[in-house]
Amino acid sequence: MFQTSTPVMGDGFQNRITDLDDLARSIQRLESGEPQWMAILGPRKIGKTSLVLEAARRVKTLSLRVVALDVQEQGPVSLEFFRRFALRIVDAAFGSELGESLERFARQPAAYRKILQKVGSFDSLPKALRLELIEIVEGDVSPDRIAGWLDLPEELAVALDLRFVIALDEFQELNELQKHGFNSFMLLRAKWQKHRRVAYFISGSARSMLLTLVNSQKSPFFQHFHIHDLLPFAHSDAVDLLRRLSPLEHSIPVEVAELAVKTLSGHPFYLQLLGEQLTQVPGSPDIPALKDALQKLLFSRTGRLSLFFENEFQRLVGRSTLLAATLDSLAEGPITLTAVSNAIHAKSGATVNYLERLQDAVVKSEGGFYSLADSVFALWLRWRRPGGTIVPMSVVGDEAEIAVARALSDMGFDLIYQSKASRGAFDLLGTRGSTQLGIQVKRSPLPLRFPRHEWKRMEAEGARFKWLWVVAAVTLEGIITILDPAKARVKKEAVLRQEAEIANLPQWLDSRRQVFE
Ligand SMILES: Nc1ncnc2c1ncn2[C@@H]1O[C@H](COP(=O)(O)OP(=O)(O)O)[C@@H](O)[C@H]1O
Ligand SMILES: [Mg+2]
Repeated sequence: MFQTSTPVMGDGFQNRITDLDDLARSIQRLESGEPQWMAILGPRKIGKTSLVLEAARRVKTLSLRVVALDVQEQGPVSLEFFRRFALRIVDAAFGSELGESLERFARQPAAYRKILQKVGSFDSLPKALRLELIEIVEGDVSPDRIAGWLDLPEELAVALDLRFVIALDEFQELNELQKHGFNSFMLLRAKWQKHRRVAYFISGSARSMLLTLVNSQKSPFFQHFHIHDLLPFAHSDAVDLLRRLSPLEHSIPVEVAELAVKTLSGHPFYLQLLGEQLTQVPGSPDIPALKDALQKLLFSRTGRLSLFFENEFQRLVGRSTLLAATLDSLAEGPITLTAVSNAIHAKSGATVNYLERLQDAVVKSEGGFYSLADSVFALWLRWRRPGGTIVPMSVVGDEAEIAVARALSDMGFDLIYQSKASRGAFDLLGTRGSTQLGIQVKRSPLPLRFPRHEWKRMEAEGARFKWLWVVAAVTLEGIITILDPAKARVKKEAVLRQEAEIANLPQWLDSRRQVFE
């Protein structure tokens, strides 16, 4: 089954053999009391949390406890983050003994205390530690209290003979606490260094910030972390993900999976979203079903991947139209600084500044070319441009479809793949103002012949949705003839000859619209 709302583990977890090995080695070092810290670098949703959780799950010792926490989980970071941290540690330490999660009782000290005191092993803890645990949910958060909480994992591990793996995602965001006069990193380093039973894994999507944090001589973490880059899946692993996770009744054929990966790259989250979309339709998905799924997921305002990118876009550019223009200029692929400057009408100094503000979304090649790090995001940006509705056809369409889409786009149409979920009769749907036009694309020379049932379906669908519709014939040389179905000769089969040609489509539409209304 496909899964997109939580990190994946167990059967749902795919690939990542060498990554798992790397993490396993780090975790095993806990046995000898020499834990290794690890920084996992990778963009949003590439699978950082899943990797940590799965690596820990595969270490089959009962005494290992895992705590995974996202610094940004509850909006902008505040000192309260550390209270949440402390509660998660206590949760993990007592685990199943508790029966329920303590975090929910953060605002109900009496209920919290009651649950804690019911736990058998709680009584065995030293008195000072017991008191500290009980007081977590009370009072304000102060730097002194934070210092105490940071030692909780080691203290609990010693008292209960446990080991901890603690994973903090979007770790670089703790830097924001500087604004409140709190330097988290110095304190964390000082505490963590003394811990023998806890391995710390940090991760984040702000690659360069995180790298500075672990590589800069000025940073308290200088040379303390083993760096691990988490990349998208290789092509064949990505194809495997789609095929393995699709349920039997919706099994994804290899050519569909190949085309999907070509379009969506090896990013596991994007592929899982696509898998979910594909399995909404009965049966095993074919290429038209893939086109339809991509249209719904990525090339529509409300698609889940489209909304994901919309959010990314807002995060990167905010209200700056110049930043938006810079991003847009990069969507076409590798481009020089001068070309970016020209595109956004800015001086090169200012352009460099804009490119820097886009941070890790932008990559610079050795030859000095700039492009977007995420090719799927680039695709989405191109689709959003005026006239961009032909982008889907240009990536997954056949040559005939692409030619027809271009021609119609030049006439001012926006195009979408027609839904195959409802077993649509047409290939494309064009809209221009209030006009909707169904388009059947045929890659063959004139005359065109249609079996009667196929013809009837198009007629019925046109009537049902009140769409005008045409047939577009495309020759091998790419010459397009648009044909009027009203001029077909329908007997045993429907035949469209040269005389059915619509020479001027906009004019034809205007005259037909009057008939309709
Ligand atoms: N190894 C994997 N196998 C299958 N799907 C994965 C894998 N890693 C990530 N995913 C997909 O990506 C989504 C996000 O994973 P997550 O670990 O939460 O990413 P991150 O922590 O990097 O933001 C998961 O819900 C799942 O759909
Ligand atoms: Mg995560």
